[in-house]
Amino acid sequence: MPEENVIEAERQEAYIEKCQTAVAQLKKELGREPKACVVTFGCQMNARDSEKLSGILEKAGYVLTDAEEEADFILYNTCTVRDNANQRVYGRLGVLNNLKKKKPHLKVALCGCMMQEQAVIEKIKKSYRFVDLIFGTHNIFQFPALLADLYEKQEMIVEIWKETEEIVENLPVKRKYHYKSGVNIMFGCNNFCSYCIVPYVRGRERSREPKEILREIENLVEDGVVEVMLLGQNVNSYGKNLEHPITFAALLKEVEKIEGLKRIRFMTSHPKDLSDELIEVMRDSRKICRHLHLPLQAGSDRILRAMNRHYTKDQYLALVDKLKREIPDIAITTDIIVGFPGETLEDVEETIDVVRRVQYDNAFTFIYSKRTGTPAAAMEEQVPEEIVREGFDKLLKVVQDTAKERAALLQGKVMEALVEEVNEQDPAFVTGRLSNNMLVHFKADRRMVGKFVMVALDTCHGFYYTGRMVDWMGQSKHTRLGKMVDDQWLN
Ligand code: SAH
Ligand code: SF4
Ligand code: F3S
Repeated sequence: MPEENVIEAERQEAYIEKCQTAVAQLKKELGREPKACVVTFGCQMNARDSEKLSGILEKAGYVLTDAEEEADFILYNTCTVRDNANQRVYGRLGVLNNLKKKKPHLKVALCGCMMQEQAVIEKIKKSYRFVDLIFGTHNIFQFPALLADLYEKQEMIVEIWKETEEIVENLPVKRKYHYKSGVNIMFGCNNFCSYCIVPYVRGRERSREPKEILREIENLVEDGVVEVMLLGQNVNSYGKNLEHPITFAALLKEVEKIEGLKRIRFMTSHPKDLSDELIEVMRDSRKICRHLHLPLQAGSDRILRAMNRHYTKDQYLALVDKLKREIPDIAITTDIIVGFPGETLEDVEETIDVVRRVQYDNAFTFIYSKRTGTPAAAMEEQVPEEIVREGFDKLLKVVQDTAKERAALLQGKVMEALVEEVNEQDPAFVTGRLSNNMLVHFKADRRMVGKFVMVALDTCHGFYYTGRMVDWMGQSKHTRLGKMVDDQWLN
């Protein structure tokens, strides 16, 4: 890590100590532990950022809570990829206004992608004046300093950077799951897909040094993590701008060598940069999960060109063929946008054709949302709502039908699952995730969370399974042992 970034991390640590004094004072005034709540909107990157922000709040002395109404400090980590993400934040801010009237010591902070937009900041300054602190995506590492300031100042603090070269590591992190973790391998995006706001709010692409990434994963594994998700807006272009360039595939090979790490996932892969080397590394790996998220966005060449995606429908289909040939058990998922400017129902048919041919295991379908400042927002021919709706509904039906067909193929199989959590509806059940990202619910003790088990996939319910835990020979553990949980599984 460059010297200046080590110094910056130390500087922020010193601010955390300052915050500890202020939080201790608050505790005295309240006569109880002060509580903080971090609410995350958006993607995995934001989820990971929230773990860092939560780590700082906890170190400062706050007890973390998921219940906003109990909190003395509320932080919204926002997303702006589609307008409905923004509207949700404004809606909830209205509620917070009332909460703050009842509880004047409540502090409200906002950060994340939405805050990188000038128009948003102006709106908040005008209509949501009770907000105490706003910061952006480039300076989240400054959170301790800003938090310390908050206790000293009365007026709204706004600190947004337009860009940064800095990558500050090693601040405290509070992980949501003890057995799995996201790991940022790069920040920002250089692709400028014409509909997308991300490059404007997350800045230019910056890769982390491989040795920093490997060290972070080693530490996570030592701390009990068995699965990592490597995060970047386009992981396939990882490492190109490093002083000693390295490919994403080469990074994966290094991650694979980490002893004790059992599963590797990554997000997101841009089809234009997916190399043969990556396919080979995935094929030969024992740890990389049998799942690839490969956003299609659209199936019509004309629309793909206008979206600035740099591939054609045929190139995408050829890539999928190659993937399926080399890794037959791979699950492929995707993102699709309907209603991009100029898109006709014939164009949507091209998208539907790709869905039928690829047979996605899952697809996230979005209605195009106009993002101010992107090239697509200035395009003529914005599509009328009823046409968008018609294309969207038609697409969704095919997506759901093909995903169900794919899911049904696993019926009766015995597969390894990582137990992720106790089922919310029925605490006698847990939810496990298969290598291909499919979920399965089955009876097991809550102490199984974070463990690998073999599960018989008995009944397909469309997008998930219910099943039963079995031993490695495929025998039901229930019948063989006469009880659901065998202690050998809990070591
Ligand atoms: N970097 C990732 C995507 C990040 S955004 C990638 O390239 O795959 C996640 C998804 O949101 C995108 O894949 C896209 O399908 C969708 N999206 C982005 N901008 C959008 C917009 N303006 N309207 C609707 N959906 C959008
Ligand atoms: Fe947005 Fe395209 Fe970058 Fe993904 S690759 S974040 S869709 S600009
Ligand atoms: Fe949203 Fe920012 Fe992620 S805009 S999708 S939270 S990178």
